[in-house]
Amino acid sequence: MPQLVSHSKPVAAAAACVLLALSAGFTPDAARAQTASDDAAKVDNVTADAAPADAAAPVPAALAEGDAAAGKRVFAKCMACHAVQEGQHRVGPSLYGIIGRTAGTVEGFRNYSSANKESGVVWTPAVLFEYLEKPQEFMPGTRMIFPGLPSEKDRADVIAYLQTVSE
Ligand code: HEC
Repeated sequence: MPQLVSHSKPVAAAAACVLLALSAGFTPDAARAQTASDDAAKVDNVTADAAPADAAAPVPAALAEGDAAAGKRVFAKCMACHAVQEGQHRVGPSLYGIIGRTAGTVEGFRNYSSANKESGVVWTPAVLFEYLEKPQEFMPGTRMIFPGLPSEKDRADVIAYLQTVSE
């Protein structure tokens, strides 16, 4: 409870980014992310996008269509290891307020890998979108042993859901 900092600013900033990306027209990257099939064709992008500086990368168009209700169902896949209640840690940290948070900073969670803690990653929607596709490829050495969500829609939906528990 006490560490309740304002998450509304990063969330608003992220939303503004989405709007900006949409109104500025799609960059080739965003267009590719939108049309690429979920499994194939993106391999060449993955390593390039894996750098922590990814926050500046174009926001994938699919993100704008995230459906929180559907994302709650996708989150069933995360629940073995994550809760969304503040302060409730399982194998993984509570994901309450995770949107906009710097990696490895959830209070009270003691099981972070140094890969995560020292990554410098900020969990913006766009970064999460990449990470959740193949966590171990995005962040080699992470303790999150989860193969990932290959479907862009599943990722967009679960991120929309996480946004509802970050406000
Ligand atoms: C098998 C257990 C497991 C599953 C399933 C799992 N995670 Fe994780 N997750 C972890 C662990 C452990 C960590 C800490 C990783 C580290 O420190 O390297 C983590 C870390 C994370 C982080 C970074 C947290 C931070 O504070 O930096 C996010 C975001 C995350 N998981 C989201 C998800 C989502 C969304 C799902 C479902 C689609 C999911 N995870 C499924 C175990 C899991």
